[in-house]
Amino acid sequence: MRKVRLAVVGLGNMGSSHCRDIDGMDKAELACVCDRDGKKADEFAAKYGCKAFHSTKEMFEKGDMEGVIIATPHYDHTTIALEAFAKGIHVLTEKPVGVHVKDIRKMIAAHEEGRKKNPGLVFSAMFQQRTRGPAKKIKQILDSGELGKLIRTTWIITDWFRTQSYYNSGGWRATWEGEGGGVLMNQCPHQLDMYQWFVGRPDRIQGFVSLGKYHQIEVEDEVTAYFEYDNGMVGHFITTTGEAPGTNRLEIVGEQGKLVWEGDSLTYIRNEESMLKTLAESPFGFKKPDCWTCDIPFPDGGGEHKIITENFCDAIAEGKALIAPAEEGINSIAIDNAIMLSGFEKRMVDVPVDEDAFEAKLKELIAGSTIRKVVSEKADEDFSRSF
Ligand SMILES: NC(=O)c1ccc[n+]([C@@H]2O[C@H](COP(=O)([O-])OP(=O)(O)OC[C@H]3O[C@@H](n4cnc5c(N)ncnc54)[C@H](O)[C@@H]3O)[C@@H](O)[C@H]2O)c1
Repeated sequence: MRKVRLAVVGLGNMGSSHCRDIDGMDKAELACVCDRDGKKADEFAAKYGCKAFHSTKEMFEKGDMEGVIIATPHYDHTTIALEAFAKGIHVLTEKPVGVHVKDIRKMIAAHEEGRKKNPGLVFSAMFQQRTRGPAKKIKQILDSGELGKLIRTTWIITDWFRTQSYYNSGGWRATWEGEGGGVLMNQCPHQLDMYQWFVGRPDRIQGFVSLGKYHQIEVEDEVTAYFEYDNGMVGHFITTTGEAPGTNRLEIVGEQGKLVWEGDSLTYIRNEESMLKTLAESPFGFKKPDCWTCDIPFPDGGGEHKIITENFCDAIAEGKALIAPAEEGINSIAIDNAIMLSGFEKRMVDVPVDEDAFEAKLKELIAGSTIRKVVSEKADEDFSRSF
């Protein structure tokens, strides 16, 4: 297979990791790098033997690339994707695809417009956690219908522990203007994406949101949300960056049993017969259906970002199907926006929420921001913890 010529824009924590990945790939070569910090761009270009650009506008005019990976802070995912599509360049955007639903609609529209000239124009998202062993197994089991009617899905993700020094480490972090949210927008896009990938998007949401409860930040650092589905399933999504040791546990309950993904184990506790049937027909008042417990083995080899980037190259060069089409990113952001709006307005909201109302609220929060961040360097750390 030929090497696809890629550009990386945004050479921070994530962009530098993408450059390293591409450098070792058979399917891709790094053609250009871009950062508004020109010195950084020049250093990366020297290191990888590619062209440096200090603005995307100039890169898309003069650079010789087929696809771009966007690894800037979130708001710019939209503006840069729009610029790229206008030039017929394939896009792989970091998560979250955009900050609010209206922005993602603009990206989808620009992609559609670009596809009129080039039907093969690719729009992918870095939802690399979809490629993890447990996630693939859960998706496979759910798609097979094995669990029967779904009853409840609960995800508790309270192991996103972050210190004040983390929040002080980047000027854009944890501000309405810089990233448009906190734990939901920055840490949870992967879980929100997998949640909707597994069991679909809720129809109604009640969110409870605390802003800066544990940290000196203006955005949310604790969220509890209740989801309702027209098919009768209920859901819960509980997260914070202010708890340690924390929990990461997903339970998906159907009439035929329960899937539990926690840490490195995936368990299927399987009912011998439908619990709904037992509930309706059993002459006994308390007896549950017999069940047995299966530990589900899975390969979990790492290198997930690389898998998504290689899949992007395969889609460009050979028209292969995407693992994470970016259009699907609208669902996780619709959930995010609905939880936040519900929390602000203290009422249950329909999904998708009123997009204008959410955008207006975000603008109000940005205008009312009083936080002045004291940015400090953080100690050298293993960045893989942030995935
Ligand atoms: N998929 C994952 O697992 C994962 C993990 C971490 C971060 N991310 C995402 O990656 C993105 C970047 O996060 P980060 O932690 O690498 O940020 P960062 O602050 O470390 O780096 C951002 C870089 O982008 C540059 N930049 C900002 N605006 C620009 C623009 N308009 N044009 C060119 N360069 C620009 C900055 O100078 C900086 O070098 C975020 O959207 C984040 O959510 C994804």
